[in-house]
Amino acid sequence: MKSITHIFFILLVFISACNVSAQDGTIRNSADKLHKNIGVAVSNKFFTFPDNHEYKTILKSEFNILVAENAMKPSSIESVRGEFNFSKPDSLIAFAIANNMKVRGHCLVISRPISNWMDNEQMTREELFAILKEYITTVVSHYKGKIYAWDVVNEAINIKETDGYRKTIWYNVLGPQYIDSAFVWAHQADPNALLFYNDNSGETLGGKSDAIFNLVKGLKDRNIPIDGVGLQCHFKLGQTNFEEMKKNMDRIAAIGLQTQITELDISIPQSMFNEDSYKKQAEEYKQIVSLFLNDKNCTCLLFWGLTDGFSWIPKKSKNTRGKGLILSEDYSKKPAYYSILNLLQESNTK
Ligand code: G3I
Repeated sequence: MKSITHIFFILLVFISACNVSAQDGTIRNSADKLHKNIGVAVSNKFFTFPDNHEYKTILKSEFNILVAENAMKPSSIESVRGEFNFSKPDSLIAFAIANNMKVRGHCLVISRPISNWMDNEQMTREELFAILKEYITTVVSHYKGKIYAWDVVNEAINIKETDGYRKTIWYNVLGPQYIDSAFVWAHQADPNALLFYNDNSGETLGGKSDAIFNLVKGLKDRNIPIDGVGLQCHFKLGQTNFEEMKKNMDRIAAIGLQTQITELDISIPQSMFNEDSYKKQAEEYKQIVSLFLNDKNCTCLLFWGLTDGFSWIPKKSKNTRGKGLILSEDYSKKPAYYSILNLLQESNTK
């Protein structure tokens, strides 16, 4: 009799667990309840109708914010001088609005890729300033009220340079003032959009994060309209010190700027594609999502791609690394997905 009661009890627990996962079984469901923005970078797969049904279904059920991985870069919007092509980003934004999702804008000023016509150091300073102003004003005005936060300037720092600035066409022709101007023009075009400086390899403590901190502090000190720092977070498994990352986030908060985790992935060496690595990866995802959930000043977290099949890493690393995201190529959920979902669900019960 005792054992029948025992089995009955286990069954009850199992049934109620199934009910919980049926109701609360997505990242989005828990993120919405916690008022946290969790999203993903959208690849060109989004635009390849009609075989994008599963891709879009997962986007809207699992996430509450989107960013275009490439479709909103200057090389995509203004590939021909004076011809602004908004068709792809417009369709992404229509999808987001229809599904009550926010959109991040990535990005207004980038070093590469830029359109061939723009990449011309023979232009005068005056001419290039006018081009940049027209680009930022046109794009930010077009999306006024629809883009929640913009990456205004992306990857402007190179700590190997003596003055610390990446030598881009913007820097070479305009000097470092282009950064201040870009923020000012973006703010004039949409005063309600949050404006971010976005960069990589500066998430923990060190020379790069010091340089980013000094750059954004300078902007703040000069009353340039900046709201925060995008920490890209392209991590390699086993190589991130999350305590240091928290310290870095705290010092940014201390000067009145938000942080956002803008391009998260945790890649694995090709020789280590196995269950053990996926478990370690799940543990690291848990640590970073936990940092995000416990920090009111960190206002957004985006994965840089929906599945391992839509990741920039294999191509960039010549297939030496990969599997950095939370869903597999076939859209199945990896241990990292479940570690994040469990954490979110636990946070909802606190
Ligand atoms: O669309 C063309 C296609 O027509 C052509 O046939 C094909 C040939 O290779 O290229 C396609 O364009 C590629 C594009 O991604 C879209 O897939 C480009 O070659 C490729 O260079 C481009 O890479 C992107 C990269 O930025 C450069 O823009 C990656 O997808 C994207 O993930 C990556 O994202 C950057 C962030 O913007 C900034 N932070 C770092 C991050 C990773 O590098």
